[in-house]
Amino acid sequence: MNINEAPFLKELVQTCSNMYRLGWNERNGGNISMRLTVSEVEPYVDVTKTLRRIVLNFDASPLANSLFLVTGTGKYFKNVERNPVHNLGLIRVAEDGASIGILWGFSDGDGPTSELSAHFRSHIVRLSRDKEHRVVMHCHATNLLAMTYVHPLDDRAFTRSLWRASTECIVVFPEGVGVLPWILCGTDEIGRATARKMEDYRLCIWAQHGIFGAGNSLDEAFGLIETAEKAAEVCMKTLNVACLNTISDEQLRLLAESFKADYRKDFLSDAL
Ligand code: 13P
Ligand code: ZN
Repeated sequence: MNINEAPFLKELVQTCSNMYRLGWNERNGGNISMRLTVSEVEPYVDVTKTLRRIVLNFDASPLANSLFLVTGTGKYFKNVERNPVHNLGLIRVAEDGASIGILWGFSDGDGPTSELSAHFRSHIVRLSRDKEHRVVMHCHATNLLAMTYVHPLDDRAFTRSLWRASTECIVVFPEGVGVLPWILCGTDEIGRATARKMEDYRLCIWAQHGIFGAGNSLDEAFGLIETAEKAAEVCMKTLNVACLNTISDEQLRLLAESFKADYRKDFLSDAL
């Protein structure tokens, strides 16, 4: 069967286009990786046939034999829909976790995103929390990025600002958001730091760069980022005006408890 008809490929392609249209993925900005099962992939691609191999600079052995559909390095989200085989690749982690095999895609000879360490290390952590975990997504969401220039880079403070900026936030990401200082991107160092945040959060902000989101589906990871991004937009729009109203800690607590959200209690003040 033609892989271009595969539901997983169609959904990822659609997601890239949506993210591009939202202005989150200028040029080659951003990347996505989605874990797939052998039974999903087998009708379209021979999973035993490796086209070429790429050596990793970190240990991916906890993901041994796992399959991922990944965006390519240097590839524009704008162009994914027009030419998936050129801009995406289907990869399999080797048994020893030291390399990946390309099974399909990256047809110009390039490889997966330069942020593979952050993706794979985040997958490892999120899978240890939830066996259904599948997707890691990175983009340069405009307002979240802007907010990192004007807001303290502290998990609790950042989370509280986002929670207060829109009623649904504490329900959608009750665990909050992790915030990293500026670290050189494309390195294993930023990959390790991102994965450490992913132990507590499904959203990790990279100061002056962008955001990582993790979820059980493309919709979930995308929905997390778009909810945080919307809240960041409200924060930025209300930054230099006299705010008359807010959502109080008491109201945030009421929201979380009404929607049975397992929220970070220490991110709210004790005083009722
Ligand atoms: P890649 O093109 O290698 O995926 O990098 C884009 C990016 O956003 C780096 O952080
Ligand atoms: Zn980036």
